[in-house]
Amino acid sequence: MEKEQYILTGDHITKTYAMPDGSSFDALHDVSVAIPAGKLTILKGRSGSGKTTLMNILCGLDQPTAGKVLLGDREVTAMNDRERTAMRRSDIGFIFQSVALIPIMTAEENVEYALRLAGWKGDRAQRVKECLELVGLSKRMKHLPSEMSGGEQQRVAIARAIAHQPRMMFADEPTGELDTNTALQVVKIFKELNRTQGVSILMTTHDKGFMEIGDCVYSLENGVMKDA
Ligand SMILES: Nc1ncnc2c1ncn2[C@@H]1O[C@H](COP(=O)(O)OP(=O)(O)OP(=O)(O)O)[C@@H](O)[C@H]1O
Ligand SMILES: [Mg+2]
Repeated sequence: MEKEQYILTGDHITKTYAMPDGSSFDALHDVSVAIPAGKLTILKGRSGSGKTTLMNILCGLDQPTAGKVLLGDREVTAMNDRERTAMRRSDIGFIFQSVALIPIMTAEENVEYALRLAGWKGDRAQRVKECLELVGLSKRMKHLPSEMSGGEQQRVAIARAIAHQPRMMFADEPTGELDTNTALQVVKIFKELNRTQGVSILMTTHDKGFMEIGDCVYSLENGVMKDA
């Protein structure tokens, strides 16, 4: 059988916080993950289990106390701040639980702005149109966030996250504030992006309903990885 290709791996990651009373607390304890390329990976776990902590370490926003992170063959945990920032800008896209669109910009301006920040060299207007079409919003390009539903706003956020063609996209509870049908629609868009854009996606969720949609599922419990 062909060996599975991983885009991102976390090896033996521990994150320890010093507590005010002088004790220490492992938000993550010896956690290892391998994220398959071009697939949808789901990270589940209760509130406080360590999902956001792990995502932040995997994308280079935060440093682990021990362990290492590899994106392709580059060791993220060995990079300095400047290198990690550059890597995030070019190779990574983010979506957060509460949509953080710029309120005074229309859907297309929000996506265009992200492309500008990423230093996109190609035809920006064309790429904006393509991305909003990918998430089914070609009819909402001129709408402000306040003129769109929560699900539509989240889809603009998805278009914005993948516009610069990152290799890897992180989505922390992207469906947390959506109703079940809209949430399902968002997850289906993720699968479509895997297929058409080749982007690898890691999303966290509390929702047990999505487990079978994930190509790969990891489960955190009190900072320790369990069999999903
Ligand atoms: N800066 C910090 N100092 C001390 N403890 C922290 C810090 N940040 C997070 N924690 C603790 O680490 C644990 C994991 O937090 P994390 O935010 O990763 O959980 P989560 O799984 O994302 O939860 P949720 O589903 O609520 O978003 C929690 O117990 C939290 O209180
Ligand atoms: Mg969280």
